[in-house]
Amino acid sequence: MKYEIGVIGLGVMGKSLSRNLAQKGALPALYNRHVAGSEEKVAESFIAEHAVLDGAGAFDALKPFVDSLATPRKIILMVNAGAAVDSVLNNLSGLLSPGDIVLDGGNSHYQETQRRAAAWAAKGLHFLGAGISGGEKGALLGPSIMPSGNRKAYDEIAPFLAAIAAKDAQGQACCTYVGEQGSGHFVKMIHNGIEYVEMQLIAECYALLKQAQYSNDEIAAFFEAWCKDVGSYLLEISAKILRVETKGEYLIDQILDRAGNKGTGKWSTETIAQVGEAASLIPAALLARYLSFFKAKREAAQAFYAVAPKAVQVDPDHLKAAYRFSRIVNHHQGFSMIAEVAKKEDWGIDLTEIARIWTQGCIIKSDLMQELVHYLKEGDQLLMHSSIKAHIEQDHTAAKKMAATAIEAQVHAPCLLEAVNFFHGYTSAQSSANLIQAQRDFFGAHTYQRIDDPSGKSYHTHWEEE
Ligand code: 6PG
Repeated sequence: MKYEIGVIGLGVMGKSLSRNLAQKGALPALYNRHVAGSEEKVAESFIAEHAVLDGAGAFDALKPFVDSLATPRKIILMVNAGAAVDSVLNNLSGLLSPGDIVLDGGNSHYQETQRRAAAWAAKGLHFLGAGISGGEKGALLGPSIMPSGNRKAYDEIAPFLAAIAAKDAQGQACCTYVGEQGSGHFVKMIHNGIEYVEMQLIAECYALLKQAQYSNDEIAAFFEAWCKDVGSYLLEISAKILRVETKGEYLIDQILDRAGNKGTGKWSTETIAQVGEAASLIPAALLARYLSFFKAKREAAQAFYAVAPKAVQVDPDHLKAAYRFSRIVNHHQGFSMIAEVAKKEDWGIDLTEIARIWTQGCIIKSDLMQELVHYLKEGDQLLMHSSIKAHIEQDHTAAKKMAATAIEAQVHAPCLLEAVNFFHGYTSAQSSANLIQAQRDFFGAHTYQRIDDPSGKSYHTHWEEE
């Protein structure tokens, strides 16, 4: 008997996906490398722990693993992004036959995926990239899957992906063919960027409510109440987190305030800068994580300036409105970024489909995402949608008030502030960039265009006497 599908890499995500496959009736062949002393018989012990995997193939050598698969072989690769992917691919490619398919389900950089796919295509092999979101639980119960690459190869593996994916409100799989090579990992990268901002916004709300002397339980209660009309998975888990106690103490108060990251926020920020988009919230959220990391410097600076936290009054309803406002700006920027790059790369991405597969299974699933599925049918600029306009107009005053409160209270709230700030920039027909152009022309003869000359002709001025 040959296995219809194989999984390489039995880390947290690989294990959950394997159990998910088995639960859906696709018993997989499983491979994990052998590392003496630390990774021995990983597949075998994992299968022994889960009855659902009874009969699955256990391998710690690649050749027998590959030989156990029906052709064209279909393999899901779940190893750490970067060098580990190249190393597995190098060992694997010689063992495969033309037409075989390997799908990288890790958080790989989309340009790396493009490079790998091109190299494999030259050998007659298919390398597909797929973003997979949902964390450990999502991977087990149903993740959101963003696959891309050769369409024919995708069609071969699609039934397995659709079976394990989360289901949306209509019962459709949260898995869709995103587009040409690299687009799936690109979309997942921006998903993670949006995720960074959503997490940061909730953290800023928490910081403001803390400054207003609310307890963890009170903040959790606010978040729970907000969930009723701003349903969001990340808000929901934040409320749960705030209520967890160990040995009579809140766990949240015991956690060191230094945020880590695995790179997707950095890649999103680099890409934003490279393509020239004005998506300002993702960089703001990333840099907030970086600043958090400098704990010792922050402690020294607080002492140096003798900064005492300022007591502040926060109306939780105003804060909820500011949060709602900022989330809309975040999603506007994220989808606008996807639309822009999709046009440049000629990927033909259907944004409503992306929003749809993000309504369940993934980390940024929310009630707002459900609404966006419909709004995105009318264009990629969410802030220009009439229903979004109504939300924004309702919450704008509160968002400005909360931004001012954060400044007054000296609470670091870069995403709340930038959401308001971006909205003011985005809705200003006249910017101050005329002065920037004049400065550039003054010191560098970089020239400028005139408002009374629509031809776009470049002008230069001798700004002062020699
Ligand atoms: C998901 C998550 C997942 C993972 C990120 C976290 O969609 O399931 O985004 O991919 O949690 O890698 O990234 P950081 O470690 O950079 O926060």
